[in-house]
Amino acid sequence: MEVIHSIADLRSRIKDYRRKNDQSVGFVPTMGYLHEGHASLLRKARAQSGLVVLSIFVNPLQFGPGEDFERYPRNTERDLQLAEAAGVDLVFMPSVSEMYPSPTRTTVSVTGLTSRLCGASRPGHFDGVATVVSKLFHIVQPDQAFFGLKDAQQVAVIEQMVQDLNLGIEIVPCPILREADGLAMSSRNVYLSEEERKEALVLSQSLQKAKAFVESHTAFTPQELESLVSQHIATSSLAIIDYVEVLAYPTLEPFKNSHHTHSIIIALAVKFGKTRLIDNLILQVGK
Ligand code: PAF
Repeated sequence: MEVIHSIADLRSRIKDYRRKNDQSVGFVPTMGYLHEGHASLLRKARAQSGLVVLSIFVNPLQFGPGEDFERYPRNTERDLQLAEAAGVDLVFMPSVSEMYPSPTRTTVSVTGLTSRLCGASRPGHFDGVATVVSKLFHIVQPDQAFFGLKDAQQVAVIEQMVQDLNLGIEIVPCPILREADGLAMSSRNVYLSEEERKEALVLSQSLQKAKAFVESHTAFTPQELESLVSQHIATSSLAIIDYVEVLAYPTLEPFKNSHHTHSIIIALAVKFGKTRLIDNLILQVGK
């Protein structure tokens, strides 16, 4: 495994690989502080690709004022151990000045899909994500890129961007990995106090309740599911709901009732103290 800091070096390694091999290049973009969820993406990339490239870059563009860019958790040594164990070939770890040598005047903005959920709560966030991911895609030029479905809106946005800009990259969505008690794995879980960590279980529990409701009802409205989920989350005195929304997936359009869509997402963002957690469940419904 090789760790590379410059765009020029990474490009030349990948070009060299492509010259000598006809196997695919798989790419896993991350912001580091890797956990088992990232490891599952890397293992999938390892199984499907000849060359596995991991990027670790905490992207300032996707953090709003007052968000956690400065304190975002970092642990390079542990990240590199996990990457090595997962069979990564190249780790790209650019500095902020390598990625953004001068103030960037070009923004990639995916409209529509970004007006709800995290797009509404975090203005500019998805412009930052789409811009950095498109830069990384241009640098790495992968055949496949692997993304976790915990950020299901991000997956929808990236898929739309790839389609609209004819990037010719296969986006591989990968299932959410959960701790044994159900909490979705996230680099931000480390911020939680012991009490918040316990209370945060209401998130996965509320999604399981919604799943059971969907499975036992032939028809339902999004509002019914939203109130069921919100009510369960409200049983935690520490939880402050940012949003609970049920939409069609991957269009992220509202729908009237379960007869009007095939696939739905129950998406939520909830704050425990200063920590904002997201989670979701994607379900097939109807006939
Ligand atoms: O999902 C993330 O970790 C980030 O949003 C990504 C895709 C690496 C872009 O910075």
